[in-house]
Amino acid sequence: MRTKILHLFQNPVVGDTVTVCGWIRTRRDSKSVTFLEVNDGSCLKSLQVVIDPSNPQIGRCTTGASVRVTGTLAASPAGQQAVELTATELAVLGDSGPDFPMQKKRHSFEFLRDIAHLRTRSNTFGAVFRIRNILAREIHQFFQQRGFLWLHSPIVTTSDCEGAGEMFQVTTLPLENPPRDPAGAIDYAKDFFGGKAGLTVSGQLEAEIFASSMGDSYTFGPTFRAENSNTSRHLAEFWMVEPEISFADIHDDMDLAEAFILHLVRAVLEHGAEDLAFFDKMIAPGQIEMLQKLAGAKFARMTYTEAVEHLVKVADRFEFKPYWGADLQSEHERYLAEELVQGPLFVIDYPKEIKAFYMRCNDDGKTVAAMDLLVPRVGEIIGGSQREERLEQLSNRIVEMGLPLSTYEWYLDLRRFGTVPHAGFGLGFERMVQFVTGMGNIRDVIPFPRTPGNAAF
Ligand code: 4AD
Ligand code: MG
Repeated sequence: MRTKILHLFQNPVVGDTVTVCGWIRTRRDSKSVTFLEVNDGSCLKSLQVVIDPSNPQIGRCTTGASVRVTGTLAASPAGQQAVELTATELAVLGDSGPDFPMQKKRHSFEFLRDIAHLRTRSNTFGAVFRIRNILAREIHQFFQQRGFLWLHSPIVTTSDCEGAGEMFQVTTLPLENPPRDPAGAIDYAKDFFGGKAGLTVSGQLEAEIFASSMGDSYTFGPTFRAENSNTSRHLAEFWMVEPEISFADIHDDMDLAEAFILHLVRAVLEHGAEDLAFFDKMIAPGQIEMLQKLAGAKFARMTYTEAVEHLVKVADRFEFKPYWGADLQSEHERYLAEELVQGPLFVIDYPKEIKAFYMRCNDDGKTVAAMDLLVPRVGEIIGGSQREERLEQLSNRIVEMGLPLSTYEWYLDLRRFGTVPHAGFGLGFERMVQFVTGMGNIRDVIPFPRTPGNAAF
């Protein structure tokens, strides 16, 4: 049976006979021995394999080839790692040639995106996806420990949660010649789902159903936005975590979000130490210290009105001039988090005009009980709110925003029958991966990025 290299380094027993399988990262030859660096993806470090250069398989041991090696663990004299493997048996499972693109030299992330099927053979992407895996596991850990129920919200839906018209359409109608109703409009009654359907932009509305019956719940799955944003923080397909808490207000919501982020940061510091050290050294100097400081921090909180007052004082430095009523731009968010408070910051009570229809209207009649969490480098990482639980206010708001009341009837039922105060938020999973790794571009923290013009693989 093969031993994973991670386990071998965690618990090395000099003299043991073990078998490892993996891919050759590099090979070095001297007169009397050949060294292979073998990596199996289980950890950042590769295992040094020491082999006799007269081994008949040695010519096939090139970068990228896959091997199975059996040998004896020996204390490594080189000091880089505790043990190395003195090979007694070597089998090349799959050859690789000089045209293998992942040779030792450093490649640009842009180039590696084009070969996303091979980039996971590099240190950087191995580290990214191990950290991503830790975060995914810890998300469930955090909510399950607190008694939240994981609901699987649908991917295909007829509800536009954000009401922003950014849904990808799902149809089997013939595009060249769709069926038409008597008025000449496309007849979606004849479409696959019997109505106009799309890919979900958020599982929130379905999570609210569960929070209105089963108590605290959360979703964790893919969401889609057909927004034409070509930025380092936007994807057309991204993963979102959306807890929804029953009998809760916006302050409970922020408390939960803060505990959640702190849990994830501490978990990555504890379980991802080797990969974090790599990011600290190669990608984002100071990353570990930043996360350690954050792990013991209290997040700042301020209203949108206060935030705009701060921004107006330094308006000169911004491309977009801040004023009350305008949405915060990424440059504003970053100034607030990076320079003003130098850490995570909740901004609450936004003008209702720039937020979604479901947010609870505050008593001032102008703002809603919204909360965004802004963090250094990434900007908005969480968006959430207390939900409008009052039937009349909610239906008025839907109409005011020009949304079709008929498609939200079921949502209004939650207010008609036993409504309760409740609140929730959405964490952009990839933005969280960016935040903890320091990776600059969101396309490099999801295995196969979907962006305008690109859905390869
Ligand atoms: O602020 P958003 O649009 O909020 C919602 O969707 C709510 N339904 C959440 C809720 O209250 N349950 O999105 C939430 C988060 C953002 O803060 C951001 O981190 C991320 O999702 N996000 C994106 N991430 C990558 N690419 C995109 N195009 C994103 N749009 C939003
Ligand atoms: Mg938002």
